[in-house]
Parts: sequence; structure tokens; C-alpha cells
Amino acid sequence: MAELGFEVIGIDTDLNKVTTLQGGHVPFFEPGLDEVLERNIKAGRLRFSTSIQEAAEFGDVHFICVGTPQLAGAQRADMTQVFGSIAALAPYLKPTDLVVGKSTVPVGTAHEIFEQLKNTAAAGVEVAWNPEFLREGFAVEDTLRPDRLVVGVRSQRAEDILREVYAPLIEINTPFLVTDFPTAELVKVAANSFLATKISFINAMAEVCEAAGADVSQLAEAIGYDPRIGNRFLSAGLGFGGGCLPKDIRAFMARAGELGADEALMFLREVDQINLRRRSHTVDLARKTLGGEFVGKSVTLLGAAFKPNSDDVRDSPSLDVAVAISNAGANVKIHDPKALENAARVYPNMNYEQDVMKALEGADLIIHGTEWNEYRELDPAEVAKVVNTRHVIDGRNVLDPQAWRAAGFTYRALGRPTA
Ligand code: UGA
Repeated sequence: MAELGFEVIGIDTDLNKVTTLQGGHVPFFEPGLDEVLERNIKAGRLRFSTSIQEAAEFGDVHFICVGTPQLAGAQRADMTQVFGSIAALAPYLKPTDLVVGKSTVPVGTAHEIFEQLKNTAAAGVEVAWNPEFLREGFAVEDTLRPDRLVVGVRSQRAEDILREVYAPLIEINTPFLVTDFPTAELVKVAANSFLATKISFINAMAEVCEAAGADVSQLAEAIGYDPRIGNRFLSAGLGFGGGCLPKDIRAFMARAGELGADEALMFLREVDQINLRRRSHTVDLARKTLGGEFVGKSVTLLGAAFKPNSDDVRDSPSLDVAVAISNAGANVKIHDPKALENAARVYPNMNYEQDVMKALEGADLIIHGTEWNEYRELDPAEVAKVVNTRHVIDGRNVLDPQAWRAAGFTYRALGRPTA
């Protein structure tokens, strides 16, 4: 928003984060975000605070961007942060203000917030729902040049304010869709469910390819040329993780159940199962590769982040596999260019190594779990010199089988038994 020319104040309850941001540093890894942050702080358009009162008095439009993680022990979303921030903001709102929800929420939330605010001192305040579609690793690009903008509103005034807020993006022909509250909320979870389904579809094909002796990468390429199918998000492998897709499909199923529409989303249970099965299958494949036993063997996991260009380890398939193999008795070393600190916070007892060649030293098996460019560029001949036995499992189907085999490795990939 500051980059678009607005004056912005960012609020968080975590003083450490606020201090880091105010100092011009992003407290996580996101390519290109440091420059944008620094530029806008220097220009005086952007500052950070822990005071919600200060923010409320300063702003006319209040974006709610807090997390909605999966509730511990349940499938549905934990809404504490959304309702907590609304409750904290409400006493200071002005009747002319607009509250814009960006968090991914169960359908019906915007209406609930609207009703809550109606009964407070902030009566007259407008509410809108404006889902966020950015991808980690592409956050800056996706924010400044989004595919589309979706705004769920109940009044012309709310729409007008958002048209003004997004004027620079509308000017560059970004589609601007105006809907009601529930449609806007559903667009978000429908989009993530579709993406998750696409990934699980190709991973289901990978399972069949494994049984039939076929190659899922060639299959994906071939079906992807049909523009109705498209070749994006058809990479078979360890499957989807992160703080969004897995918990969003679960929360969507839970909400549909509350609405009496659970049958409609039954397929998402299968999408989830196919996805999780890729992880257990990889552990089985690793055990088989090592002759049926993990104890006494050394395994190196390349990648801890849930995807490349991110330091996010939430529900990371690669880290999950590492922990499962370690629990089964192997000595596991984990490498990642950016995510080791976060991984160590979640699993302090695992072994982490910052130097990739050191991480590979003495390995009986290498598992490629996150497709950082750095791993694609590894020279298998150099790797061959430091490992103990030459086995590699490519969990992301991007390494070059011929190059690894030429260096003496057995190469196994998911869904490509003959690759
Ligand atoms: C996802 C959506 O793509 C965004 O549009 C959405 O805004 C975001 O969630 C959100 O709800 O906030 P993100 O979680 O950053 O974005 O990650 P994706 O790029 O969607 O990747 C998710 C997972 O799927 C990763 O683990 C990735 O490795 C995996 N993946 C992706 C595959 O296994 N195969 C593919 O072909 C593509």
C-alpha cells in the first residue's frame, strides 16, 4: 500500500517484529521485500507500531491481515486473531472508516463482523472482504501486479473506497470483481482448493504411474498442452505443504459440514489423503532403497522449507519426511539455504547443516525435498566423492536422472519408476 503511494501504519502485537520492521528489516525471507520496505520507510510513507489505538486514529481504511491457522486438535480455522483484532480496533473506529478483511476465513465471517460492529460505538463503519491471493516467494510481484482483485461489499460507499484504494492497480487493467460477502470469502477457499486438487490429481497419477511403470512427468507435460488443463501446478512429487493449502482445504470441509454441505466437499478429504500419502510413500521408498532398515544409516534431506524461495516450514513435506525417517532410527542431516532457523525452532533435536556439501558428507541416501535452484546445480560427480553410498530420491522430480546415474547413483523419483 505504501508502494502504491498511501501513508501506511503496520500493526502487530509482537514488539520484536515491529522493531525489526521499523529498522527496515523483514523478519522472514521474502525475495524483494526488503528493498520495498526500506524505500517506503525512508520516504516516510510507512511506519510500524504495536498501538492499535494509534492505527485506528491514523487510518481511514483498516486491513485485517492476521493468520487463521488450523485449530489444534480440530480441522477448522482458529479465528482468535481475526475476532481479537476486530475487538481491539472497534472502540477507536470512526463512523466513516472502512474495515477490510484479507484473512482467509470461514464463509459467514464478514457478516458476523458486520453485525458485531453495528452494535458498537463504530456504528456506520463499513466492512468489506478482499481476499489475498499472493504466493510466498512472489509476494511483492503478486501484490503490485495481482491476477485479480475481489471485493465483497454491502454498499456502494465501501466499493467506492476500495476502487480509490486500488486505483493504481485498476489503471493497469487488473480485473476488479465486486461481489457479496459470502462469494468473496468463498472465492479464496475455492481457489486454494482447486490448486490443491490439481496437485493431488497429478500425485494420484504418480501413484498409478508407479504401479504401471509409466512416467508422471511426461504424462503431466502431455496433458498440460491442452489449454483447458494447462501445465502449471502439475508438478508431481512430495505434494503441497505450507501455511495455506493444507489448512484451508480442511477448514473449508469443516465449514461446509456446519452449513450442511459436507457431501459437496467430500473429494477434498481424498485430496488431503493423496497429498499425505506422498510423504509416507517417500519414507517407504527410502527404507527400501536402504535395504529395509534405517538404523545405522545416514540420510541427508535437501530442503526444509515447504517450497523454494521461502523460509516457511509450516507443514513442510520435506521436514515431515526428515522427522519420520529420524524417528525410524536413521541419522538425519537437514540442509536448507534459508529455513534452518525456523526448522530448528519447531524441531530443536534434529541435525541441521548450513553447508550443503558438509550436509551430504557420509550420506547413505540423499532425499531432495524442496526444489531450491542450488540443489539442481549440484554436481553429482562432486557429491559422489563425499557420500558413503550413492543413492538419491528426487522428491520434486527436477534433478537430472542421467547426470546422477552417470556419477554412480541409483536415482529414484516419485511417479517415475523407469526414469
Ligand atoms: C498458496 C496459493 O498458491 C496462493 O494463491 C494463496 O494466496 C496462498 O496459498 C494463501 O492462501 O495465502 P503458497 O502457500 O505460497 O500459496 O504456495 P504455493 O505456491 O501454492 O505452493 C503450495 C505447495 O504446493 C508447496 O509445498 C509446493 O511445493 C506444492 N506444489 C506446488 C506442488 O507440489 N506441485 C505443484 O505443481 C505446485
